[in-house]
Amino acid sequence: MIRRQFIAAAGTVLAGLLFATSAQAAKVYQVATDAAYAPFESQNEKKEIVGFDMDVLKAIAAKAGIEIKFTNTPWEGIFATLNTGERDIVISAVTITPERKQSMDFSEPYFEAKQLIAVGQSSKVAKFDDLKTKKVGVQTGTTGDEAVQKLQGKTSSNIKRYESTPLALKELLNGGVEAVVADNGVVINYLANNKGAKLKTIEDAGFEKEFYGIAVKKGNKELLEKINKGLAAIKADGSYDKIHKKYFGK
Ligand code: ARG
Repeated sequence: MIRRQFIAAAGTVLAGLLFATSAQAAKVYQVATDAAYAPFESQNEKKEIVGFDMDVLKAIAAKAGIEIKFTNTPWEGIFATLNTGERDIVISAVTITPERKQSMDFSEPYFEAKQLIAVGQSSKVAKFDDLKTKKVGVQTGTTGDEAVQKLQGKTSSNIKRYESTPLALKELLNGGVEAVVADNGVVINYLANNKGAKLKTIEDAGFEKEFYGIAVKKGNKELLEKINKGLAAIKADGSYDKIHKKYFGK
């Protein structure tokens, strides 16, 4: 009798444990993205966060067997949300840089990019160096901001910083700045979607190649490994290429 009761009790405890572990497996990873960066991340009419980055991370999550939830998060302070624990992952067209690597961990690269200059159609600017003493718009704290700091000096008052790249481009249209320096994919997308905007782009061979990575809190090896495995899997089975094609053509 006692023995049977014990077994029954043990069974209940075991069932509880199993339930607890399965509940834990359903953890939802919180993902930060600055959704004002089409085609990588933006909000549609229904306020859903959509874009290349979302498709990539969703495909990775499916392979890795993890659940994710995207939350629109301002670019300024986006990395700090990893340390506060508000977010577990940042995917936001983030360039992997040596400085950023000191404060967070990055996945393997998933996209190659470069800075691109946007100017008015009648502008005489022909190369990056021509912007040395001109008002240039950038998104605060981006690699575009860093590039212009290198050209003009960190304290230059001609660097006009905006909280989003579309705001910087709008200011270019308004004549408040003479140029905008930002990631090529976003500038090209903006021009394609604003056909009436009298802008043109200028490439400069001096800009270095950049690689986007998915960021996690420094030391979160477990999650990083899942992401890297998922990324390798979607690269291997062609699903990455399919997503790439959807947004960028061949
Ligand atoms: N690739 C650039 C950087 O890492 C710009 C990224 C901005 N991303 C965004 N979603 N606003 O600095």
